[in-house]
Amino acid sequence: KIPPASLIFIFGGSGDLNYRKLSPALYNLFIDEWMPEKFGIVGIGRSPYNDEDYRQRLLNGIRQFSRRKEDSYGHWDEFSKHVTYLQMDAEKEGDYQKIAEVVKAKEAEMGEHPNVIFYLSVAPQLMPDIAKKLGALQLCSETSTTRIVIEKPFGHDLKSAHELNQLLMGMFKEEQIYRIDHYLGKESVQNILSLRFANALFEPIWNRHYIDYVQITASETVGVEGRGGYYEQSGALRDMVQNHILQLMCMIAMEAPVSFDANEIRNKKVDVLKAIRKISKEEVNQVAVRGQYGEGWMKGEKVPGYKQEKSVNPNSAVETFAAVKFYIDNWRWQDVPFYVRTGKRMNQKSTSITIQFKTAPSYAFPPEAAETWRANRLTISIQPEMEVKLRFQSKRAGQSMTLSPVDMIFNPKDGENEPEAYETLLLDVMEGNATLFMRADQVEAAWKIVMPILETWESRPPAGFPNYTPDSWGPEDAEALIARDGHNWITMP
Ligand code: BG6
Repeated sequence: KIPPASLIFIFGGSGDLNYRKLSPALYNLFIDEWMPEKFGIVGIGRSPYNDEDYRQRLLNGIRQFSRRKEDSYGHWDEFSKHVTYLQMDAEKEGDYQKIAEVVKAKEAEMGEHPNVIFYLSVAPQLMPDIAKKLGALQLCSETSTTRIVIEKPFGHDLKSAHELNQLLMGMFKEEQIYRIDHYLGKESVQNILSLRFANALFEPIWNRHYIDYVQITASETVGVEGRGGYYEQSGALRDMVQNHILQLMCMIAMEAPVSFDANEIRNKKVDVLKAIRKISKEEVNQVAVRGQYGEGWMKGEKVPGYKQEKSVNPNSAVETFAAVKFYIDNWRWQDVPFYVRTGKRMNQKSTSITIQFKTAPSYAFPPEAAETWRANRLTISIQPEMEVKLRFQSKRAGQSMTLSPVDMIFNPKDGENEPEAYETLLLDVMEGNATLFMRADQVEAAWKIVMPILETWESRPPAGFPNYTPDSWGPEDAEALIARDGHNWITMP
């Protein structure tokens, strides 16, 4: 369904996210004919650009980061006519009048009142103030056509997330608020729902009776990439676990929804978050590990340690790696550990989820047939490529009974045609579908889960940072965390 006429204001219009992700996403939607017939994109920023220079800047971003580049069909020329720039100071109340003027002008041009979308892609400390000033605008009283999109991080901790929710909900209706977690827009993440709920095959074994444990790894090879200022206020637990990883856990652990209604899906996810066992401060050391990368070599190239990165405190105690063992206290998952880990400057860029099933109850094969490798495993690879792999034992060809694991793989290898997460999410905002966005209670429930770890880590300085080298799989303590239970981290081949 093509969305209705839309006018999108991007706060942080000259920023990095817009450059790398948002503009390329809108451009791809345009090429794929998903953009409304009438639309406008207005970048908002303090830097002085005229429309032409601004378009040129976005085109540079598209050349580097877009799934589809400029083509000979003139898509860019057509698309760019819809893009303009509005120079304003988002901290100045008076400047907001300029927005109202643009809306009026666009309305006249389009001959109808478009949906007005405010995308806040700005530093977290600016969010409340901008939201407040927008809320005060007359135009935001039209609740059915005005929407506000909040980029992550949503708050810095439970308290600030709650305050931001209160502030937003004081001015907008929940249906107008779109809290982004871009992992939910990934094709491979959405595929988890089809895998689980469009097949009857998995459901009967998708529980504590058949599943031994679950692992989630989200590893990156990059360091903090010039985002030291932001990362110093964040760290791996806030940056990845509180949001993306807990959301992946929800997709794996949720009960079957009875419909694809936004609230139904979100209710089922919140149930998972609420059931995650509270970690007491005393047990943080047993169930959570933090790490920070030092300097070293990454694929043959010398790279600085975290403490040497730009805008990072040379004595920083911020973690660039986190591993946690969670439990979900409900009928389906009681006593099944969920091991999760994430880190920067690790050996591979990959996100994957492994469901390890229990071993066969009795093993009648001769000893020489012995299982050499653990099979009975379903791996859902989120990136670099979507892949679903079922590993099971099979007989090796020959006269003896020898077993070896084999893989049954689904890999669409269709990256080029797969919409990027932000394409899906921006289209949903224009269409008014909030299913893939975080509701207020979801965000707060997720903060509640990580707070004891955050508070404990902040109150006790880490010992021995840096404690892992670039191009590795993180600190040794992370291996010990899982080895204590007799398991290993599973790395992709
Ligand atoms: C962002 C984090 O939310 O996710 C970044 O702030 C991280 O630090 C990024 O690099 C990872 O996203 P993706 O889609 O590349 O896995």
